[in-house]
Amino acid sequence: MTTESPWIIHRYTSLTSTMDRAELFAWFGVPERTVIQSAEQTAGRGRAGRFWHSPAGTAVYATIILRPHVAPNRLSTLPLLAGVAVAEAIEAATNAPVQLKWPNDVWMGTEADNQKVAGILVTSRLEGQRVNHVLVGIGINVSTPSAALPPGATSIVQSTGIQLAADALLVAVLARFDAAYAEFLATGGQPSLDTWRARAALIGECVAIEESGRRLTGTHRGVDDTGALLLEGAAGDLRRIVAGDLVRGPISTGETV
Ligand code: BTN
Repeated sequence: MTTESPWIIHRYTSLTSTMDRAELFAWFGVPERTVIQSAEQTAGRGRAGRFWHSPAGTAVYATIILRPHVAPNRLSTLPLLAGVAVAEAIEAATNAPVQLKWPNDVWMGTEADNQKVAGILVTSRLEGQRVNHVLVGIGINVSTPSAALPPGATSIVQSTGIQLAADALLVAVLARFDAAYAEFLATGGQPSLDTWRARAALIGECVAIEESGRRLTGTHRGVDDTGALLLEGAAGDLRRIVAGDLVRGPISTGETV
């Protein structure tokens, strides 16, 4: 007996961005668990308004449409759950370790030289205190040639020498995400983040958070149950950080503005 996949995948050859098409589909009322996938994006989007380079046929570019019945302030764990699903799917297919860098980066490589293999972009539309829809965008560099990768990025082929099929990898990611999303719904948007914590990069290390021209430094103490980063300052104080870019270093802790 086969179990039908709960995901409906719409596949395209080329789109500006799977986020754009998913947004359109969401406004037209498609059910949740609809997925938009494209072999290429001509205007792929990353976090913080950045461009996501999306050459044809070498990667997973997909956006999942969700309609969770939870309060808007409970959405913050979804990007972390998606990151875990991506990490688990890559590990299962390659047997190579994968780490997660807060908030949404998926890393492969050695401990000393980790590079970004995938990224997650989550957006949401609210109607008052109700969630209309959430879009979970997933980009995974599967066999992207080195010359087409931005600095600090890698692909699964470059890291492991293993060639995976993008379509099959997406199906594997969705299967993993399915279980996590079921727990997310069952807990009213308060799932355990232990699977994320188990793969977290840079825990206990000195890091800096850069956000809107502001830079905070401290020791990475993991995440709280909402997915916020816990940053320990030089005086032992613990700050909750809800947004920003995490970078390795500097050596000393403290705060710089
Ligand atoms: C990031 O790390 O900055 C997030 C990158 C997210 C990229 C994916 S690719 C599929 C989906 N469509 C987009 O335009 N962006 C996301």
